[in-house]
Amino acid sequence: MFSSLEQLVQRLRGSGYIADTIATTTVYLAARLQKPLLLEGPAGSGKTQLAYAVAEAANTSVERLQCYEGIDEEEAIGKFDEPLQRLCVELKAKSSNVDWESLRTELHGQQFFSAGPLLRALRCERPCVLLIDELDKVDHAFEALLLEMLSVWQLSIPKLGTIRARSIPFVVLTSNEERRIGDPLRRRSFYLRIEHPTAEREAEIVALRTPDSTHEFHAGMAGLAKALRGWSMEKPPSVSEILDLAQALKVLGSEQITPDMRDILLPLLAKTEADRRKLLLRDGFASLIFDAQQYSAEALRGRAA
Ligand SMILES: Nc1ncnc2c1ncn2[C@@H]1O[C@H](COP(=O)(O)OP(=O)(O)OP(=O)(O)O)[C@@H](O)[C@H]1O
Ligand SMILES: [Mg+2]
Repeated sequence: MFSSLEQLVQRLRGSGYIADTIATTTVYLAARLQKPLLLEGPAGSGKTQLAYAVAEAANTSVERLQCYEGIDEEEAIGKFDEPLQRLCVELKAKSSNVDWESLRTELHGQQFFSAGPLLRALRCERPCVLLIDELDKVDHAFEALLLEMLSVWQLSIPKLGTIRARSIPFVVLTSNEERRIGDPLRRRSFYLRIEHPTAEREAEIVALRTPDSTHEFHAGMAGLAKALRGWSMEKPPSVSEILDLAQALKVLGSEQITPDMRDILLPLLAKTEADRRKLLLRDGFASLIFDAQQYSAEALRGRAA
């Protein structure tokens, strides 16, 4: 997928994803050694986006399986298209000499099978990115199904047979840790924790989304993110929420957050009643802004260094 680590670093950046050295090296090794990548970390920290960024960097497509409680094999692998099969039988039945045995074989061929993301990923001519998103929502039985596929790169489907991979996809598994992913899957994967970024890296991410703003603005947003996350909030803000805040400030025509903006910004900063109360405390918001300024000054110094 990538000829060198440097190429991957450049292309990831080109696709708008800012990753640290550990993340890029782990992605590179996973691609080279054809290992699934298991990403765990807080919501909104860029797990799903990393899969899309890798696909863009490799100039390939993404097959996405969005997991949820109760997801079944049909959703993941696919199923026979029964209306199409019925239509075929009805049409053939009109002709006088039907060979029912060969019709039965034909009806269980790939042309009557509507493939789900796992099967589509194995059928790709060139390796695609297979994103199995929010794997922590599924049960152990479903994990076992994935295990088989990721071990032998084939799927055994009743009546259709065994489908072997044309190309081996780059597999990204993401989890928000609601349920612990089993050890067999962990053993087969490279494990990457995606945490909230450092202030410097977050300033870079904000800069990518609001390129017309100043460095001070980008560092200001990163500083505020760090200050909020250090405030033991019930729901600390994710990168994506800081990006929303940056866009909102642009819409409001403001490059700086001042203590008098508390009430306007509260719906973007505090997403639970407890956090809202915390930010409404007397002097609470003003001291937050003070902390944010210290952190943004650090981020700016880091940039200059
Ligand atoms: N390192 C990064 N570089 C660029 N953008 C980022 C980065 N991390 C997060 N983002 C931004 O944050 C948004 C949210 O990221 P994403 O949806 O991938 O988070 P997630 O970890 O999958 O969250 P969830 O667990 O809620 O699904 C992305 O659309 C992207 O704009
Ligand atoms: Mg996600």
